[in-house]
Amino acid sequence: MSSAVAPSTATPFSQATLARFAREVAKYPADQKQSAVMACLAIVQQEQGWVSPDSERAVAAYLGMPVMAVHEVTTFYNMYNQQPVGRFKLNVCTNAPCMFAGGPQALEHLCETLGVQPGETTADGLFTVQACECLGACGDAPVMLVNDRHMCSFMSNDKLDQLVNGLRHAED
Ligand code: FES
Repeated sequence: MSSAVAPSTATPFSQATLARFAREVAKYPADQKQSAVMACLAIVQQEQGWVSPDSERAVAAYLGMPVMAVHEVTTFYNMYNQQPVGRFKLNVCTNAPCMFAGGPQALEHLCETLGVQPGETTADGLFTVQACECLGACGDAPVMLVNDRHMCSFMSNDKLDQLVNGLRHAED
């Protein structure tokens, strides 16, 4: 049974992407396919690097839900990129407990090292540095998350420098 609705022609998804959407939708009853919205947005981000307004519209059309409802999901969870980001997204927690345990200093060091302001991407497109909310590892401050997946704890300036160098060389 196919419940697929043609996506927006402004940002047509590939057949492979639509197949991935369909696998997520199939996990839910036919009248609850909107439950797959987070998974579909994650697929979009994995394939495109971010979730554009056109992609939000296309996902909304695919799932038969209001565009605003999709946008609310995209903006509520900070794992979704609402603009293009670098190859490596570095999120440093500056929430209250980390604020008193080196979080802001780690963010400042990263920004100085990479020559960007929080929220900016380096000119070579490699790194985006962002402040973020609690990562659930307050006792390990300063903490950061690389590309929404890899948690890094106790990030002294030396460890930050090592991380940046390691990621740079991973691209060589
Ligand atoms: Fe930073 Fe919880 S406040 S990890």
